Amino acid sequence: MANIVAIGVQWGDEGKGKIVDLLAPEVDVVARFQGGPNAGHTLVIGDKKTVLHLVPSGILHDNTLCLIGNGTVVAPETIVEEMNTLIRAGIPVAQRLKISDRCQLILPYHRALDVAREIAKGKAKIGTTGRGIGPAYEDKTARRGIRLIDLTSNDLDAKISENLEWTNFLLTKYFKTDAVSRADVDEVLDLARERLLPLMADVSLILQERHKAGDSMLFEGAQGTMLDVDFGTYPFVTSSNTVSGAAMAGLGIGPAMIDEVLGICKAYTTRVGAGPFPTELYNAEGMNDAAGKHLAEKGQEFGATTGRPRRTGWFDAVVVRHAVRVAGVTGLAVTKLDVLDGLSEVKLCVAYERNGEYLQSIPADAGVLNECTPVYETLPGWAENTFGLTDMAQLPKNAKTLLDRIEEVCGCPVTMLSTGPDREHICRL
Ligand code: GDP
Ligand code: IMO
Ligand code: MG
Repeated sequence: MANIVAIGVQWGDEGKGKIVDLLAPEVDVVARFQGGPNAGHTLVIGDKKTVLHLVPSGILHDNTLCLIGNGTVVAPETIVEEMNTLIRAGIPVAQRLKISDRCQLILPYHRALDVAREIAKGKAKIGTTGRGIGPAYEDKTARRGIRLIDLTSNDLDAKISENLEWTNFLLTKYFKTDAVSRADVDEVLDLARERLLPLMADVSLILQERHKAGDSMLFEGAQGTMLDVDFGTYPFVTSSNTVSGAAMAGLGIGPAMIDEVLGICKAYTTRVGAGPFPTELYNAEGMNDAAGKHLAEKGQEFGATTGRPRRTGWFDAVVVRHAVRVAGVTGLAVTKLDVLDGLSEVKLCVAYERNGEYLQSIPADAGVLNECTPVYETLPGWAENTFGLTDMAQLPKNAKTLLDRIEEVCGCPVTMLSTGPDREHICRL
């Protein structure tokens, strides 16, 4: 198989875990390249559900090497807990997983800062996952981050003291909240030494060797293009680049190692956390459109990491078109088509309108995006059941029409269609 980057092209939770898991047996390596435990990727196999935050979604397969690249931020307690759960389920994680020596660690003071900042922002909060993602990436860029390799260094003690002193100053004096204790940090570092150092490797080197040997690879993105720190709804975004380009810097590979970019999107749109969402219909704050409620309830739209209810709305082709361009998407995997079953009509946003003008692309200013109203095309829905379908030829005519229109307005072919949460619920072209 070709080397593929699989990314979300909306606001995350598009079904990346499911798609990566089902493609994994066809590749030799699955690698995560950005994000951290803010991600929640769900894998459903029969009656067993696995939610992964840091471990790549290829881990359930015997012969797939799973790698965590330097572009990710790793919380030792989270990944160890995840590994323990997998081990209890009979998955020999340690034999299948390697973690880059250059990975940044998320430590308890990052989480404390993330949470304190959100509380201080009050109504203006971003609605982060509270996992310390932003502060960890800030430390990386500020060149004071702690990397996995630092656990083997004699300077670690002094670095931690300095970071903790600075963060505790902010926490207690500025945010007026509790300091983080050195003992809490040391406990996490000890755990990382014990459980993560044995998995430490030069991931870029492994990828180069595997590539030379003719192995194929799947690079698994987290979040989605609209949460990208440059191309998303800034500042209501995550702190990493989520576009396909991030795979190169986040793993230490060149562009020639990437053949295809698979953009994963739902047949509608969801978002969790704050920020603009032009096609929004339904949320916990009182938007209560009946179709939006159908999407939330039938789609069981609750965050896989935080359990928060997701905001729901119609498919936004302006969003997906933007992702197709900025991430060079070569094929779309449309998920959760089955959730649209039973709706009398289905809408597709093809442009925005603002002050009497039409916009065909995403404006850089989140404030401007907030003032945009969607221009919809309305298509007839279908009463038939598409749940679990595995053959495109069996799709109701109106579902096929919707997919054709998605291809046209997004300027990208649909190459996969997901019709249920299970690995088996898939139509491939
Ligand atoms: P990810 O973060 O992109 O991996 O997506 P999440 O796992 O956070 O959220 C996707 C949710 O939709 C999970 O509960 C999946 O089990 C579920 N899911 C994925 N594909 C389908 C589908 O085609 N139909 C339905 N009904 N559920 C799906
Ligand atoms: P997966 O990989 C959906 C959102 C948060 C918040 C913003 C910033 O499962 O698709 P952060 O904690 O990253 O600083 O939060 O980004 N967010 C996600 N939303 N899916 C995710 O990951 C997300 N990861 C972060 O809700 O709005
Ligand atoms: Mg998710």
